[in-house]
Amino acid sequence: MTTATVSPNVAIQPATAVLPDQRQALAGRPLAAVTGAEIQAPLIHGGHVRYANLDYGASAPALSVVSAYLNEILPFYASVHRGAGYASQISTSVYENARAIVREFVNGRPDDSVIFTRNTTDSLNLLAGCLPVTGGRPDGDVLYLDIEHHANLLPWQGVPHRSIVAADTVAGTVDAVRAELQQGGVSLLAVTGASNVTGEILPVRTLAELAHNHGARIVVDAAQLAPHRRINITADDVDYIAFSGHKLYAPFGSGVLVGRPDWLDAGTPHLAGGGAVKEARLDGVSWATGPARHEGGSPNVLGAATLARATQVIAGLDPDRWHAHEAAIRSYLVDGLREIDGVTVHQIFRDTDTDTIGVVNFSVEGYDAGLVAAYLSAEHGVGLRDGRFCAHPLLKRLGLPSGSLRASFGVGSRLEDAQRLLAGIRDLRSKGLGWDYVVDAGRWVPANDNRTYPHWAPNTPGTAGAAPCIDD
Ligand SMILES: Cc1ncc(COP(=O)(O)O)c(C=O)c1O
Repeated sequence: MTTATVSPNVAIQPATAVLPDQRQALAGRPLAAVTGAEIQAPLIHGGHVRYANLDYGASAPALSVVSAYLNEILPFYASVHRGAGYASQISTSVYENARAIVREFVNGRPDDSVIFTRNTTDSLNLLAGCLPVTGGRPDGDVLYLDIEHHANLLPWQGVPHRSIVAADTVAGTVDAVRAELQQGGVSLLAVTGASNVTGEILPVRTLAELAHNHGARIVVDAAQLAPHRRINITADDVDYIAFSGHKLYAPFGSGVLVGRPDWLDAGTPHLAGGGAVKEARLDGVSWATGPARHEGGSPNVLGAATLARATQVIAGLDPDRWHAHEAAIRSYLVDGLREIDGVTVHQIFRDTDTDTIGVVNFSVEGYDAGLVAAYLSAEHGVGLRDGRFCAHPLLKRLGLPSGSLRASFGVGSRLEDAQRLLAGIRDLRSKGLGWDYVVDAGRWVPANDNRTYPHWAPNTPGTAGAAPCIDD
């Protein structure tokens, strides 16, 4: 068996690289200001505490710079591409300029399409509709790993596809991908840049090279990677990349797909409708090419604009400071959790030097993950995610079919957030729950929840989280 040389595409800053006594200096304060950093969360026993937001991986808070920018452009908010009026012209300019900014953020090639979408899920579905077909037959299969978020798994199930199981090391996983590519017939390798479940990073550049050596292209689901690491699709030779604004410190649902224009210009328009056409007739249509082809309907100008503004802030961070800040929080949390009896930290790979973003996955023996999450929220003002993280195959393989807990953090986080989580888990292990909890609409909630929400969030406390997809 050949041993793959895994060359990381990003600066490695393993958690263990941060010495314990450096952590306060590196991560005692947020790296960048975010909106809502000081909101007070009500506690079930009464009183309030600063909300410790450890759920960045789901939706990150907006950067303060982005919020200020939003206030600046909001008065000019108007239709895009559809009006000769002053505000409309400005909105169109902001929207089109956002493409250039996003292209720069990923270091896209000059001819790459930059298509604004609703989110990463939408971007990957869009690409799935553009896979090349010759003589009515798809040119090849899409290959993906079993560790993917559903957004990078389900769109491919509607087209010819193959999946493989990731090995228990990064190098072994690269070998498995190589072996499958050697079988031939793969047109696209779809991989995550960083796992939304464990935060472990895959060697994108190596995988891109492998795909290309075997006549395939590569798409990277960077929903989790982009908010944590510099992206360079030209240097890494990545054909397509998808990510979301709401995980990258921009409010509003927005996403983007950047990549090679040939498949995209020949593919089925993602949304048939106004703006996507050159000419429409009563019984037919000539579709536009370029981003317009896939952006039918009125675009989400503020979503695109804030996403672009957020990328500028992120691109301006000093990479060393950025990674050290995150690694300090991560190592503190991982070390602290491992010291608590009955707590298990989960990861996909047994490698100890895998580069990892600000995500820590764990479970607490004897407690349902949803119950622990409800307890941390109600009794400690800590917000984190529980469930199966829209990665059901991976959770099953990790032996966690009923889910686990995920703490995720970023530039607005501080060491104290991790300390608060650890204190909550230690209390749980030593004293148990301090309140009664019941299952309501499939979620654990405090019984007789008397916490009050702002008047403009009228849901009864405890039920606000009851949504169709509660475990992404
Ligand atoms: C790795 C990964 N890919 C894709 C998605 C889907 O992103 P969105 O909900 O913005 O479509 C997520 C969301 O959690 C994710 O973590």
